[in-house]
Amino acid sequence: VPALEQEAENATVSQGAVESNHAGFSGTGFVNYDNVAGSSVEYTITADQGGEHELTFRYANGTTTDRPVSVTVDGAAAQTVSFPGTGAWTTWQTRTARVALHAGANKIKATATTANGGPNADKLSA
Ligand code: GCU
Ligand code: CA
Repeated sequence: VPALEQEAENATVSQGAVESNHAGFSGTGFVNYDNVAGSSVEYTITADQGGEHELTFRYANGTTTDRPVSVTVDGAAAQTVSFPGTGAWTTWQTRTARVALHAGANKIKATATTANGGPNADKLSA
């Protein structure tokens, strides 16, 4: 079903696992990125109109160290999004990024840039 949001557990995960051991997630779970650089979650967001959209990433980071990821849309124009500590793995917050989407399905890939991997990822909305 085309949608402006996707649960991380329904996205394409590389070097990560779907888990549900920290409460407060939406849907049926979240993605625990492997704690390595290069681990990734690729979401499909279907926009009805092309142009600038604000992406909202829902996440938790129970550490005090930022877990930045590189965000690409259909493989182009990477930007870094910061995911600072949220205080606990059960405390979920959001970070946003502005990107250009085209009408139709867009592949939005969020790739960990540090050896700590990404945060625990719950959902992406546009
Ligand atoms: C803990 C936590 C995981 C998290 C991991 C991490 O193991 O339970 O959900 O992904 O820390 O530091 O990445
Ligand atoms: Ca992890």
